[in-house]
Amino acid sequence: MLEVNKVRKDFPILDVMYDGKRITYLDSAATSQKPVQVIDRVSEYYRNYNSNIHRGIYKISEKATEEYISSKEKAAKLINSGSYSEIVYTKNATDAINLVAASWGNKNIGKGDHILITEMEHHSNIVPWQMLAERKGAVLDYVSVDKSTYTLDEQSLEMGLENNPKIFAFTHTSNVLGTINDAKRLTKMAHKAGAAVLLDGAQSVPHMKVDVNEIGADFIAFSSHKMLGPAGIGVLRAGRDVLEKMDPLITGGDMILSVEKHKSTWNSLPWKFEAGTPNVEGGIGFGAAIDYLNMIGLDDIRRHEIELTKYAIESLEGEKGLHIYGPDRLDIKGGIVSFSIDRAHPHDIATIFDSFGIAIRAGHHCAMPLVKSVLELPAVARMSFYLYNDEEEVDQAVQAIKKVKEIFHVG
Ligand SMILES: Cc1ncc(COP(=O)(O)O)c(C=O)c1O
Repeated sequence: MLEVNKVRKDFPILDVMYDGKRITYLDSAATSQKPVQVIDRVSEYYRNYNSNIHRGIYKISEKATEEYISSKEKAAKLINSGSYSEIVYTKNATDAINLVAASWGNKNIGKGDHILITEMEHHSNIVPWQMLAERKGAVLDYVSVDKSTYTLDEQSLEMGLENNPKIFAFTHTSNVLGTINDAKRLTKMAHKAGAAVLLDGAQSVPHMKVDVNEIGADFIAFSSHKMLGPAGIGVLRAGRDVLEKMDPLITGGDMILSVEKHKSTWNSLPWKFEAGTPNVEGGIGFGAAIDYLNMIGLDDIRRHEIELTKYAIESLEGEKGLHIYGPDRLDIKGGIVSFSIDRAHPHDIATIFDSFGIAIRAGHHCAMPLVKSVLELPAVARMSFYLYNDEEEVDQAVQAIKKVKEIFHVG
């Protein structure tokens, strides 16, 4: 069982006072807080062995290289991937998806081909495909979201796959609805229709065990900063056979084997995709974040988030004028509670929460097609939970919601 009081002690920011109040951080879907173990590992790098990797034939560069590679090994193990050569470090999940759309897409998508995504995607899994479709004269199709269950519409999914798309790119967990899609089943269906699969794991890998081997997706993308690690580092994971056939997108130092005046050859995997000096401290800190998640246990983290989500929803039951968007079934819902309150704009809701010292996000959450066409709203407010949140913080959020209702004369 997760001992939340013990966990909280590892996160220094949770003790910092702002206007006399400790912060109640309910915005981990945007970015997560960092435990002292990650902060210390990054600081240790700067203090003791700051150097460039791969290049120096001296001790501290060898140490930095070892630590950087070791973090890739940890990332590979975390998702049950093969060797670290399948782990390409990018800036973030967005960068990873863009790499697939631009490199793999450039080779594999042609005029009239179909690309399939869903209405519940983050912009990072929409815009790269829009651009690719435009460049190639391909067709971008959407699987619609069922407005009563907040899950993917089965009929629309089947129709989308009937077009034999070249790729089906979908999110594992929606950052607005919290809906967890059955990645293994969807991947199987897509493969049967002849499509490659890109799984957006930005909101799933930080919160539950994700086994890419079992799921079978061709690509998975996720971000370190959403899973206790530093910003500026993300993962694109794909099989060696797939990565070998892809061209690098960014070229220059480190990603080459040899450079002649008019021709170059590429470095081995994964370095072929990592041109220039990488985010060494980010990679090393990410390794520490993975160590921390493993120490706590992703199954316990998932259970803790289910309990908090259940507690939040039960605490808010019967609140007049309050609307919660997302599946009722907790087994297919992440620790995300998006909501609106009659007459109150989500930005006003977030401002009132802030006066309580509670950080939540309000807006379209980089998922405009979902918020606008499915929820039919300009914006929603969102609370999102992680391993360091507790029931007392949920109680504070409930009080803040009551205050919003009082101010706006709701209910
Ligand atoms: C579902 C989903 N996919 C992708 C992203 C993009 O992540 P990043 O901004 O780290 O690239 C996010 C970020 O919120 C997300 O929630």
